[in-house]
Amino acid sequence: PVLQLAVLVGSLRAQSYSRKIAKALAARAPDSLRCRFIEIGELPLYNEDLDGDTPPAAWSAFRAAIRECDAVLFVTPEYNRSIPGGLKNALDVGSRPPGKSVFKGLPAGVVSVSPSKIGAFGSNQALRQTFVFLDMPVMQQPEAYIGNVAELLDDNGAVKSSDTALFLENFMGALETWIRTVRPGGSSFSA
Ligand code: FNR
Repeated sequence: PVLQLAVLVGSLRAQSYSRKIAKALAARAPDSLRCRFIEIGELPLYNEDLDGDTPPAAWSAFRAAIRECDAVLFVTPEYNRSIPGGLKNALDVGSRPPGKSVFKGLPAGVVSVSPSKIGAFGSNQALRQTFVFLDMPVMQQPEAYIGNVAELLDDNGAVKSSDTALFLENFMGALETWIRTVRPGGSSFSA
């Protein structure tokens, strides 16, 4: 069966390198992996007081969108050696209320992106820490730390080298294999 892959981009800016890399990844996904970009920028900051019978509509829409997916790909920059607050907020929103986390059990992939050399290692690892409590099995290998990203993309946001393109394609192939290993039956989310 075709798998639905939620793609969450950790940056909100229009010219985000992370979003360009996410698009480059989606363009190289196997045909049996359908990428769905789910936006996190309009989610009100998580507040338990608002999470009663009528939570903010944006939270409900976000939770519903993730529920329709079989797995989640995170493509994120690093802010102060961790993940951007907006991405953490999306994880918090999706994880609640208790016992109803939309992330529980969903396989995940992580690609971290930075214009600097370290490839947002801190962000990549910080995100993995949250998967322990979220109970998300994350693909361990291959890892993807996309450093020096400005040099990898042309003015149109396309990857310049065939090496980079192949790396992204292989990552998506491995992710599909990982998702099918964790969830052999495909989409059958249950909280
Ligand atoms: C950054 N940046 C950054 N880069 C990095 O490699 N490690 C870091 O810890 C930080 N910290 C940081 C904090 C804040 C608040 C901002 C706004 C930026 C730089 C960051 O990598 C750069 O702005 C990227 O271009 C952001 O990713 P997008 O928006 O291009 O996807």
